[in-house]
Amino acid sequence: MRDFNEKTITDAVIQRFSGAPNERVKGVCDSLVRHLHDFVREVRPTYEEWEFAIDFLTRTGKICDSSRQEFILLSDTLGVSMLVDAINNPTDGRVTSSTVLGPFFVDDAPEFELGADITGNMRGTPAYVSGSVSSQDGTPLAGALVDVWHSDDDGFYDVQQLEKLGGAAGRGRFKTDKDGKFWFWTIKPTFYPVPTDGPVGDMLHAQGRHPWRPAHLHFLIRAPGHRKLVTHIFDRADKYLDSDAVFGVKEELVRDYVEHPPGIAPDGSKRDTAYSTIAYDFVMAKQG
Ligand code: BEZ
Ligand code: FE
Repeated sequence: MRDFNEKTITDAVIQRFSGAPNERVKGVCDSLVRHLHDFVREVRPTYEEWEFAIDFLTRTGKICDSSRQEFILLSDTLGVSMLVDAINNPTDGRVTSSTVLGPFFVDDAPEFELGADITGNMRGTPAYVSGSVSSQDGTPLAGALVDVWHSDDDGFYDVQQLEKLGGAAGRGRFKTDKDGKFWFWTIKPTFYPVPTDGPVGDMLHAQGRHPWRPAHLHFLIRAPGHRKLVTHIFDRADKYLDSDAVFGVKEELVRDYVEHPPGIAPDGSKRDTAYSTIAYDFVMAKQG
């Protein structure tokens, strides 16, 4: 066949891979071509606009390296990451909801004893974080691996300022105790912008959007026989809860920081300065 026009080219392209050996590949490509062609027919780009789009994707690829993933950031800021999350982790009200992993997770974070202070060389208001991990049937999960990481008072993660901090800070790995409980000291994180010095920043600017994420603590929790839980705890007082740049906020993940004057903390330690406390009880889904 030849002489394709605006209407006939879509079926011609789909026909071309009708013999694809893998049905999933065939189905995904079929849908991709249909939606992409419909998008182009709807938008009717000029040649200049099409070249701009190609350049945008080229710049997105070129800025990626082992510590910068602009395509994931693009997916995050267009709501695709949370859409994939919603499809794969539907909220059923029984288990803790998941949210985006983000680019600042490190798989070999330092391990700490329960009750340790993971602040490192970060500065900020001390915070006591505690909670528990249980299975969907209510059984406490002893020995669950709890990874936590968060930004500092200025909105930066340790991996963004390793030279200044001299190592991991605001990041650690714990094992829950025999009752599935965990507790540790750190500092209270603040809101921060997603990286805006690349094409995604240009896109947010062009769309008239701000780049801010509301303050949060990241958690990644693993326990045998259960689905890995990737989630956050958000600060109820944050002004960006309803306009998170990556659409990651879920009401059930929002908690209060309670302010305390100097005195005896919940773990029995004596605090000479004011501190805050926050708590969350995580419920994990059994592996299906
Ligand atoms: C984060 O929370 O660390 C994050 C998530 C998505 C994009 C950028 C940062
Ligand atoms: Fe984050």
